[in-house]
Amino acid sequence: MKGLGHAILTGETLIGDEPFAVILADDLCTAKDDAVLKQMIEVYEKYQCSVVAIEEVLLKETNKYGVIAGKLVDGTDDTYRVTDMVEKPDPKDTPTNMAIIGRYILTPDIFDILRNTKPGKGGEIQITDALLEQAKQGKVIAYKFKGKRFDCGSVDGFVEATNYFYKKEENV
Ligand code: G1P
Repeated sequence: MKGLGHAILTGETLIGDEPFAVILADDLCTAKDDAVLKQMIEVYEKYQCSVVAIEEVLLKETNKYGVIAGKLVDGTDDTYRVTDMVEKPDPKDTPTNMAIIGRYILTPDIFDILRNTKPGKGGEIQITDALLEQAKQGKVIAYKFKGKRFDCGSVDGFVEATNYFYKKEENV
């Protein structure tokens, strides 16, 4: 009720002082080889900081997502060091069309930051705002994952996902 950031903060007693993953179940992800979270764990192991999954969305849809801006890490074409993050920006104000989807790996210092994060967009405590504090210290990576995402929070996305997995299971 108080926002995704607050929801994550309530998990602190279970998690303690270690990195952890957040999965938003309305974003359903599928990948041919390694699962999206496994891909992200590999990124985490390399950079040892928070990691968010991103994909490019239509510019007119940036107001449905947290959006990042960043610099490609040398030698990669899918890994950005995040320089800015905004929760659900209007398309005319958005820094980019690179949207955060519901997979995060967070380092536990995020809890102290969340405790001090004021309500943001929609009056909610936003994980995007807390992550911006880590990003200011160069400690957030955005990773363009390999795979496909369905937005099961929308009727169209839910139906699309249902049909996709039905066809996959039944080989039709
Ligand atoms: C949440 C986050 C947003 C992110 C999205 C991914 O928004 O606040 O930054 O892009 O999940 O699905 P929600 O969809 O809960 O409004």
